[in-house]
Amino acid sequence: MAVSMREERSSEGSSPPDIDMREAWNRNAASYQGRYPIPTDTAHYGPWAPTENELRLLGHVRGRRILEVGCGGGQCSIAFAKQGALVTGVDLSDEQIAFARRLAAQEGVAVDFHQGSAEDLSPFPDQSYDVVFSAYAFHYVADMPRCLAECHRVLEPGGLLVFSLDHPMRSCFWDEETLEDSFVPVRSYFAEGPIVWPFSETGILMRSFHRTTATWIDLLHQAGFRLRRLLEPAPPEDLAADPWADDYAQEIATRIPQTIIFVAEKPTQQAEDETP
Ligand SMILES: C[S@@+](CC[C@H](N)C(=O)[O-])C[C@H]1O[C@@H](n2cnc3c(N)ncnc32)[C@H](O)[C@@H]1O
Repeated sequence: MAVSMREERSSEGSSPPDIDMREAWNRNAASYQGRYPIPTDTAHYGPWAPTENELRLLGHVRGRRILEVGCGGGQCSIAFAKQGALVTGVDLSDEQIAFARRLAAQEGVAVDFHQGSAEDLSPFPDQSYDVVFSAYAFHYVADMPRCLAECHRVLEPGGLLVFSLDHPMRSCFWDEETLEDSFVPVRSYFAEGPIVWPFSETGILMRSFHRTTATWIDLLHQAGFRLRRLLEPAPPEDLAADPWADDYAQEIATRIPQTIIFVAEKPTQQAEDETP
């Protein structure tokens, strides 16, 4: 069967379209928060992935310092704060941060929320966190080497970087022109680069980046991290119960992982010294 793949949609080396993502997320924040009922009793990892309360990738969080990057409406930060962590949330969007502050006040927890970029964590001192966490934000970040260098800088040696994304394989089966999942690949897995698409309800143009799994692993190593785990969760039996169920094709979700989760460690000096 001839399969039409449209590699030209995304190609490494093409200059990313000039989209002001701070403004785009400001304009989409109300729609995003209205559309997805994101829990505040557990951190989540995204569509059809088990939650942090189920996976326990961070271990215990009580008393630990957590920086959430791309915290959006703050739900994961709030969940960590409820569990006794000392939490800072940073997000590019002023509107997402305003929502997060209101939600934390409603839920009666203290979280230190900042507007800012994942590529510039300069408000936060070196080695000031035990965990950097991010759910579904890093694929919006253009300069990933800079972002990972910043995550590495703010972590204590031995600290964890835990983040989730749309699984890179999913990008190949998601048609940004129709906003539908496809049963044949619409682009080459190997064609890395920006993808521009209209946000479902507002039509406002967004830009995310397709990078292969191997590229993510290389980026982590180049930034000085060691990959501890990579998770590709199979979907749960009750697909319809997921907060994102309406946006993701359920039949495809049973065949292709939708979410990928990375657990990486900033090695201690001793671990570095012992590495041959
Ligand atoms: C899909 S939302 C996820 C938000 C939240 N983590 C959640 O799970 O609901 C992506 C978030 O990443 C933020 N974002 C995009 N680019 C960013 C950047 N360069 N630095 C910081 N945040 C960014 C957006 O403002 C948005 O709130």
